[in-house]
Amino acid sequence: MSAVLRRVLLSAAGSDRIKRVAVRAPLSRGIVSRFVAGEDTDAALSVTRQLVARGLLASIDRLGEATTDAETAQATADAYVDLLAKISDAGLAEFAEVSLKLSSLGQALDADGEAIALDHARAVCAAAKAAGTTVTLDMEDHTTTDATLSALRDLRADFPDVGAVLQAYLRRTEGDCRDLAGEGSRIRLCKGAYREPESVAFQDQAEVDLSYVRCLRVLMRGRGYPMVATHDPRLIAIAAAMALQTGRAKDEYEYQLLFGVRPDEQRRLSERGEKIRVYLPYGTQWYPYLTRRLAERPANVAFFLRAVATRR
Ligand code: FDA
Repeated sequence: MSAVLRRVLLSAAGSDRIKRVAVRAPLSRGIVSRFVAGEDTDAALSVTRQLVARGLLASIDRLGEATTDAETAQATADAYVDLLAKISDAGLAEFAEVSLKLSSLGQALDADGEAIALDHARAVCAAAKAAGTTVTLDMEDHTTTDATLSALRDLRADFPDVGAVLQAYLRRTEGDCRDLAGEGSRIRLCKGAYREPESVAFQDQAEVDLSYVRCLRVLMRGRGYPMVATHDPRLIAIAAAMALQTGRAKDEYEYQLLFGVRPDEQRRLSERGEKIRVYLPYGTQWYPYLTRRLAERPANVAFFLRAVATRR
């Protein structure tokens, strides 16, 4: 896709005005079944069960970001705690963790946003521990990277298995990988999904891919647990080769792919005995998530427009 269309879509992902219109539209069935598990926890658990039946793992994300009031931040934390109890009750804790955006917990609130988000994240991590599963902190735009990594350090003091995401498009990330490649450190490496300025991020896809390889090498050679989050066949092949070279057993790293993206590849890798975790979003706040997916692939734009045009 042209870089221009990608930029337009990523701007639209951050537009409150477009979002207000879009989220009022009922989620069309096509979109629900393709990229989002559904609107509520039951739908998320039901799809998780289907994934598990196919030998896959899940990281469940309750859609929502850029929370602008304290009540919504509290409600989001409560919803995660409830989700985790339900994961446990359903006997899915061994197979499903949760992904969490600190901005959904109030990170950007004017007064003490970072402290508020950290407190809520602590409650979610405690609920995950009680349920017998883990939390991974999603990474958002570059203005939040330091705050999110700082929260990660705080949370890991009590919950060492909290995972984090690093984005290969950021120039800083190779260094962050070095800092975070220690024993037990769960790091999801992705390319990065936000519109970022040249001063902080590689703009050229080839440069992003090269950065991904350098970062992955650091993580694979380290003592942590790399989570290889990409649909890119070349990077998946490189990850497999690096895992072999570094002598990692198949339970010492995992691949992660988004729900609805390359399901055949998810199955193929799983059948090869690889650990595959599917990032599974659910909820009503699907607009920014979906727009970022559109920016990644032109075929998805046509799919989306068709789905909206035929929505009930
Ligand atoms: P890219 O989009 O460049 O695609 C590379 C190649 O993969 C394509 O050329 C094609 O061959 C193949 N491909 C991709 N999509 C396909 C499709 N639909 N069908 C067939 N082939 C396809 N980002 C972020 O900023 N913060 C975060 O916390 C996360 N979290 C996260 C979790 C997980 C599990 C994943 C997989 C991704 C994220 N991301 C993310 C998103 C990530 O940063 C990135 O935007 C997308 O994964 C797209 O990048 P790819 O690595 O897939 O490559």
